[in-house]
Amino acid sequence: MKTDTAVILLGRNGYSSAPCEQMNRLVEALRENGAYGLATSAFIDGGSPALPDALGLCAAQGMARALVVPVYLPTDRNLDNWLNRMVRRWLHQNATADFTVHMTPPLGDAPELAAAVLDFVARYADAPMAPLSANHASPNSPEWSLIPPHSYHALLCRGPRCNAAGAGEAAQVLKRRLKANNMGDDAVLVAQTGCLYPCNLGPVMVVYPEGLWYGGLTEKGVERIVEEHFADGQIVAHYARYPSQQTQQRPTELEQA
Ligand code: FES
Repeated sequence: MKTDTAVILLGRNGYSSAPCEQMNRLVEALRENGAYGLATSAFIDGGSPALPDALGLCAAQGMARALVVPVYLPTDRNLDNWLNRMVRRWLHQNATADFTVHMTPPLGDAPELAAAVLDFVARYADAPMAPLSANHASPNSPEWSLIPPHSYHALLCRGPRCNAAGAGEAAQVLKRRLKANNMGDDAVLVAQTGCLYPCNLGPVMVVYPEGLWYGGLTEKGVERIVEEHFADGQIVAHYARYPSQQTQQRPTELEQA
């Protein structure tokens, strides 16, 4: 029994419930297997928990070792390299002598995967299955032709680096605070996006119509943006970030949080 080893299944794009459910089934299978002290999932982008949070959970639960298993396809070598650097940075910031982190090669490199896919295909290739019927109807809902009315459009980055920096928590707080303030889509239309580029400023959110960038979003920061910007039209200068060519226009005295 490897009871002091935690397994973290690492996926991508867990915005909606479907990928989370699939990951949960895999995690459940690991738990039922009983060979590991802890099994959990983590998401690189667009889902929670982010990998740093999952590592923190494993360390807090007294695990001696975390085995990170990237289970997404296709493999992205640039992303793999960044993940490696991110985990090493996390270790630097959270180092304890009795907790180590290891990362398997990506699932896509596993020869067993090809065999599993072959088995899966064979299971359905000759099975009696009803074919999909032709349908002239557009797959798109007519409502998707309409730009919904909204006072503000908030683009919240859920790319890998913002997600690792806490965009998942920011998204939850944003949802909660908007609801508490009775602000629906017509007030603030929120879209979660992939990487918006200035990753080092993350978690990042851009608010229109001003085209204003917010960065370094914390729970408190998101609460203030809802209460002050969305409800009252006041830019929260402490979290505002400006394109470098406009740095001269930045407020000289940033408000203290
Ligand atoms: S991941 Fe958010 S700006 Fe790059």
